[in-house]
Amino acid sequence: MAKDAARPSAAMEGRGSYNKHSLIPSVGAAFALPHLERAIADVPLGPTGQPVVIADYGSSQGRNSLAPMRVAIDAIRARAGADRPILVCHNDQPANDFNSLFEVLDTSPDSYSRGDPNVYSCAIGRSFYENVLPPNSVHVGWSAYAAMWVSRIPAPIPGHVFFARSTGQIRAAWERQGAEDWESFLSFRARELRPGGCLVISVPGAEEDGASAFEGMWDQVNAELAGMVDEGAITVDERRRMAMNVWPRRRADLVAPFERDGQFQSLILKGSETRLLRDMAWEAYEIDADAESLAMKHAMFFRAVFTPTLASFLDRVRAGDASASVAFADRLTSGLKRRIAASPAHLHSLVQIVVVAKAKE
Ligand SMILES: C[S@@+](CC[C@H](N)C(=O)[O-])C[C@H]1O[C@@H](n2cnc3c(N)ncnc32)[C@H](O)[C@@H]1O
Repeated sequence: MAKDAARPSAAMEGRGSYNKHSLIPSVGAAFALPHLERAIADVPLGPTGQPVVIADYGSSQGRNSLAPMRVAIDAIRARAGADRPILVCHNDQPANDFNSLFEVLDTSPDSYSRGDPNVYSCAIGRSFYENVLPPNSVHVGWSAYAAMWVSRIPAPIPGHVFFARSTGQIRAAWERQGAEDWESFLSFRARELRPGGCLVISVPGAEEDGASAFEGMWDQVNAELAGMVDEGAITVDERRRMAMNVWPRRRADLVAPFERDGQFQSLILKGSETRLLRDMAWEAYEIDADAESLAMKHAMFFRAVFTPTLASFLDRVRAGDASASVAFADRLTSGLKRRIAASPAHLHSLVQIVVVAKAKE
């Protein structure tokens, strides 16, 4: 768990919890799969005998990486044949639950290496706001639902935990952080990609006015946290420190570095797309009117993705007490579930997709 409150770890809830409750990212990122397949068709695969390298930036616990890695491997195999070694490098932060990732790779019937002895997997526990792989080594990059996590909290958000509810200079500081981090993410990938290599990124999106599907849920979380302060479950100081370092991106934010001539450093913008992701939990609710079931799905998604980061602001968690993190997640999730069941709302959200390629030499 990160000890620096301005740099919370952003890791997902462990013991495979994220794998169980991450339908939204899985379906959202699937919109990017045709882009991945097309982009690989143009990548120079280099000398036979040397491995083709795929990097998966922000893999989390691996379940949602299986489908994209399968698409990438099939596209490479179609061009390079069955004997070409393929190395899949899953990257996430050091605090990530890599045990669950390796368990999925080993046991899932959908594992991409099943029946293919020439596919090798490894994991790299390092922030993607640093160099993760050697220069000019990556043929194919994939990053799903990860690059919206900013590297640090640029300013506390008065009265809220979600930056979209901030205004004025605070909001401007968050916008600047988001823009800097996006350029930094791209710069590191520009170094790592081989000439002609491709990178396909998807993130939860915001409308061009900055609004996203998630503000309503964050308001409910915020209200629940206020109740937790009142009942003494967390302290005023802990609450004040809390901020969620995620920034749903507008299309304009993502293409901004390429604005001048379609190129940022050595990266060329090949395409971008915005898709509407319908909330499958809501669609089930429209049929069965089961508010409890909807609330459970939304609250467990929230828990798996966001509670470890919020818990990382608690004194006991920062002192190394993991049980305090679980107790916090239990308490917040049950309150949030009650609130969602009392006023159900959909989470139809936008997905932003960006495809880039490194200039060929
Ligand atoms: C919502 S999960 C997405 C996981 C998976 N790619 C998917 O599509 O479901 C976001 C992941 O990004 C990781 N992440 C956030 N910031 C990161 C950073 N700076 N470096 C590496 N991984 C990061 C988190 O730890 C988390 O596992």
